[in-house]
Formats: sequence, C-alpha cells, structure tokens
Amino acid sequence: MSKESKKEEKAKQPEVEEVKEEVKEEPKKEEEQEELTINDLPGVGAATAEKLKEAGYDNLISLAVASPGQLVQAAGLGEVSARKLINFCRNHLDMGFESGDQILKKRELIEKITTGSKAFDEMIGGGFETGSISECFGEFGSGKSQVAHILAVTVQLPKEKGGSNGSAIFIDGESTFRPERIQQIAEGFGIDPDEALKNIHVARAFNSDHQMLLAEKSEEMIKKLGNVKLIIVDSLTSHFRADFTGRGMLADRQQKLNKHMHALMRIATKYNIVVYVTNQVMARPDTFFGDPTVAIGGNIVGHNSATRIYLRKGKKGSRVAKLIDSPHLPDGEAAFMVTAGGLQDLE
Ligand code: GTP
Ligand code: MG
Repeated sequence: MSKESKKEEKAKQPEVEEVKEEVKEEPKKEEEQEELTINDLPGVGAATAEKLKEAGYDNLISLAVASPGQLVQAAGLGEVSARKLINFCRNHLDMGFESGDQILKKRELIEKITTGSKAFDEMIGGGFETGSISECFGEFGSGKSQVAHILAVTVQLPKEKGGSNGSAIFIDGESTFRPERIQQIAEGFGIDPDEALKNIHVARAFNSDHQMLLAEKSEEMIKKLGNVKLIIVDSLTSHFRADFTGRGMLADRQQKLNKHMHALMRIATKYNIVVYVTNQVMARPDTFFGDPTVAIGGNIVGHNSATRIYLRKGKKGSRVAKLIDSPHLPDGEAAFMVTAGGLQDLE
C-alpha cells in the first residue's frame, strides 16, 4: 500500500466508526413483544443483534445452547461477554426438568378436535390434539384442504360433540379458503353456517415472509378473541418452495421454515391450540420400492410436527389417511369419503 492510500485509509476510518455508532442507536424493532428477543438482551446493541441473527442465533434458545467460542466468532463478542450472554439466556429460559406427573398434567389439558370420521379420529387417538403441530401431507387433491375446512368447523362444536367451543385462524397461502364449503360443512354438523363463518378468521399470505409475519401476529388475535383453538396454515410450504428456488437457497429456506415452525409451536403450546399445517409432496427420483413421494421441507417440517399424517387417494374416490409418526400412538390407516357434509367412513 502506498503512503497516499494509507493516508486515505486513515482519513476514512472515522467515517466508518460513525456509521457503526448510528447503527447501534437504531430503535429496537421488537420492543412491543412481551417475550425477550435478541435485541432486548443486556449488552447487545443493534449491530451485534444483527450479526447474531445473520449467523442464525435469532432466539434465546439458540444462544442458550451455543458455546462462547461460537458467539465470539459469529458476532465478534469478547469471550467474557459471550459467556455472560449465554448465562443470561440460560437463566431467563426455564431450562429445568419437568417431572413425569407434571408432564401428565399437561397432557390432561390436551383437547381433541374431531374430523367427523370415526376411523380417522380413532387413528389419531380421538382427534387433532391441542398443544402441538399436526401435519397432513399428500399429493394434490388428496384432501388436505378439505380436512382444514372441516376442522375449522368442528372446532366450534361443543366439547361433548368433539369440538372445543373455539374459533379458528386460517392462514391461507394458496387461496384455498372457500366460505361456501364452510357453510356446507357447518350444515352437515348442525351449526349455523353464518355463525360458523364468523368464527373463522382468514388471512391471505402473499409470500413466505408475510406468512411468517401472520403466524407471529396471530398471537395478538388469540389474545383478543380469547377462544382460538385452531390455527390452520394451508399450505405451510408452498410459498417457501416458490420463494427459495434452486439448490443454493435450500439452507436459507430450511432455516426460515424452521423459524416459522418454532413460532407456530410456541403458540400451540402457550395457548393450547391445535396447529394444523398442510404440506405437499414431491417426487423422489431415487426410490424403487414403496411410495416414490416425500414431504416438502424434509426433516425440518417432520421433526417439528408431533403428528404426521399422509393422505392419498384410495379406490373409488375414497381417501386414505395414514399416521406416519406419533409419539404415543401406533401407526395406522383410515379410509373415508369426502362428502358434502364433511368426511364419511367407508362401509
Ligand atoms: P392441493 O391443495 O392441490 O395439494 O390438494 P389438497 O390435498 O388440499 O386437496 P383438497 O383438500 O382440495 O381435496 C380436493 C378433493 O376434495 C376433491 O378432489 C374432491 O374429491 C373433494 N372435495 C372438494 N370439495 C368438495 C365438495 O364440496 N364436496 C365433496 N363431496 N367433495 C369435495
Ligand atoms: Mg389444498
């Protein structure tokens, strides 16, 4: 480097510093949220928060389980600050153990929403469970959106009829919501069709970021309404698939999907709500035996869904649901028809 350019370099430096200061004084974006975010952590300025987020540390849990070395590298923090930050997150999050009976008590709070099909309900242990994510995946026309519409109605039934006296939030990523279909199904279940529609709050998602935002914002709606017992995301993956195309973007897509699912899971557990998500399948070129299709989103979606159901078209217009993996139920199958009023068991 010549003397000239060294001088220039020096002259430039204060400018760079100033820019940094400015960045630090940016207002905290997520202040209104009641739960702590990265931006609220002691000793973390906006610039550091940004660096942490860029490196994938976008919530307290991810920091709590990080090592000091990782944070030093990711955000240029000093070793001591990194350690303090990790400890703060660990203390803030209740990372302790729960006893078996506490978990049992939590499970007793779980409510189950009927599908209207006895076979389907039995296969999933009585209905779609509150407090976790359930995923239906399958090819086009297999009935994923139909099940969504049915649940949006049955959640409104009284408890003794398999509902939860609840209302539903429908995050619609594919313009699949059909009010006429809701009315039809409501009639089938003996619910006033217009009342049924009033209890379903629909939001169109225009892209994956918007969809993520809607999921986060649904919390406000849940607090306002007080009786939301179901969140539908139909489809969970189609925007992500469209917005992140090509191999190079796969990691970004999976990271965002993971974040999206964590937000949904948090809401499911915090408010004891059924989260029902739908997912397409894609052809798997490397299978020679069995079903050559695989759910989009792979492990990220699979690991975050407590209940996974594979829907496919059966004989004579029927549909077959297969329980793929559930923590406490045997795998099974149920066959039914989609009818005007909902689902009807075969035979
Ligand atoms: P994609 O969103 O395209 O991936 O498919 P999906 O799995 O969401 O399919 P969907 O739930 O839309 O299922 C479509 C099927 O449901 C149709 O092929 C029909 O068999 C059935 N269906 C849809 N609407 C009605 C209706 O009003 N009455 C009856 N009897 N069946 C219907
Ligand atoms: Mg659909």
